[in-house]
Amino acid sequence: MAPQLATDNDLNQILKETFTTEFRKGYITVNGVCLPERFNKFSQAIEDFEVRDDDVWVCSFPKTGTTWTQEMIWCVANDFDFEGAKVLLPERFPFLEHSVLFDYTTIMPRHPEVKLHRLVSDSVNYVSSRISPRFIKTHLPFHLLPRQLRTGKRKPRIVYVARNPKDTCVSYYHHCRLMEGYRGDFNTFCRLFLGEKLCFTPFWDHILQFWNRREDSNILFLKYEDLKSDLSTVIQKSATFLNKTMSNDQVKALLEHLSFNNMKSNPAVNYEDAVETNKKLKLIDVDGDFIRSGKVNQWQGEMPESIIERFDELTREKLATRNFFF
Ligand code: A3P
Repeated sequence: MAPQLATDNDLNQILKETFTTEFRKGYITVNGVCLPERFNKFSQAIEDFEVRDDDVWVCSFPKTGTTWTQEMIWCVANDFDFEGAKVLLPERFPFLEHSVLFDYTTIMPRHPEVKLHRLVSDSVNYVSSRISPRFIKTHLPFHLLPRQLRTGKRKPRIVYVARNPKDTCVSYYHHCRLMEGYRGDFNTFCRLFLGEKLCFTPFWDHILQFWNRREDSNILFLKYEDLKSDLSTVIQKSATFLNKTMSNDQVKALLEHLSFNNMKSNPAVNYEDAVETNKKLKLIDVDGDFIRSGKVNQWQGEMPESIIERFDELTREKLATRNFFF
């Protein structure tokens, strides 16, 4: 059966009912991209953000292996400083638009016992004030990145990571329930994903913007599926991109450090503190782990046939015609 077509108004209503919370009161569309309405408060600061040539950016659509890529890039760029890697990743490699996604201003006065990191109140300002070399994570699509980056006035290194759309959607669903207060079911979530009503959608255009720039010397384009199938080759590629040399022992140690089980139990990267804080603040009551299953093709058996067809159709139409395959 063909998926039921939902109008924009239907989806907006569903979004409001299933995915607004005290920390995210609504959504807007900015140049074709769905974002929390709080983007308005930070849009100018992001547009005018002073980029530095020695920054290292990890850009991605959510749930495509961003954290895994960040940890790999940080460790290679910092000469395998596993001691330094014990500092929380959001501190070493902050998320530019964190404050756009989560607004704690009305919540915190009720919880004087909970102390949030400075990053939370104004992540754009926090990132801009870091000393060089800065490591910056963002989920913004290319056309919403800071002006200096779009125009090429500054040319920091940019690592983009992409993942199979169906696995991304499954992972995003679990993430939104665990971390962002989504209350609907999986099928509804898929409809929102396809209808471009989830933060940072549309997914396919996000990938294409970076795929089309993959030959630029300051861009490294990676795939989650390649990290899964041959992480040492990806580490080697990343080291070349970052102008770093490394010994076999260092690669071995990094492979161990980045293994799924290690990442899952590493408090510096597994966001257990963020899950805990949100529970304390009574913003979520779902159990689970941020680093969840780490599997390829997990959509099989989870996605209804009609939704799979629509995903495949869009992937063929948007990506395969540009020689991009998962
Ligand atoms: P799943 O939800 O499918 O398990 P992001 O960092 O962009 O939010 O992506 C999170 C996804 O990357 C999650 O996918 C998570 O489990 C997976 N991931 C993180 N570290 C991983 C690792 N070391 N090996 C495999 N997958 C990993």
